[in-house]
Amino acid sequence: MAEAGRATDMAVVDAAEQRWALAVAVIVGLVVAVMVYSGLHWTAMAPARVETIDASTLHLSGEFMEANLGTAREPDRSAAVVRVIAQQYAFVPHCIVVPAGTPVTFRITSPDVVHGFLIAGTNVNAMVVPGYVAVVQARFDKPGEHVMPCHEYCSVGHEGMWARVTVLDKLEFERQHGGARRASCAR
Ligand code: CUA
Repeated sequence: MAEAGRATDMAVVDAAEQRWALAVAVIVGLVVAVMVYSGLHWTAMAPARVETIDASTLHLSGEFMEANLGTAREPDRSAAVVRVIAQQYAFVPHCIVVPAGTPVTFRITSPDVVHGFLIAGTNVNAMVVPGYVAVVQARFDKPGEHVMPCHEYCSVGHEGMWARVTVLDKLEFERQHGGARRASCAR
């Protein structure tokens, strides 16, 4: 009698183990399916705002050559584009000047390691990753000064890595930099 009872117990245990094994297999299968689906999906449709760049040659030619850094305005003065390089341990240019009341697009990249791009007192905040161009839209309503520290630890000189953003009244910007192809504080 006791023998038969033990056999029944074993059958119950076996059935429970099989149910749980099936449940685990279904969960693992779902996780794998999600990984495969998202991998294929992101390959087929990369996010539109990811722009890549060759970090080892960006100083030498193209958009981030030294002559192209700083603030450039549309010919009709309706918008500005600021190109910046973040590198160990400085931003180039280290002082950025922009006109107030104008849409400003920051384009910033790194030739070495990950840096942080933050303009105090605004919602401008991005990571600067080598191989990618970080693109941030901003608009400064009032003239003034903002500090721009690197906020991503980038090795021993990190604490000293910061820059300044000077927002000038539109007319003042025109007076100081109207004739320049690129503007920065240290012209
Ligand atoms: Cu660059 Cu911290």
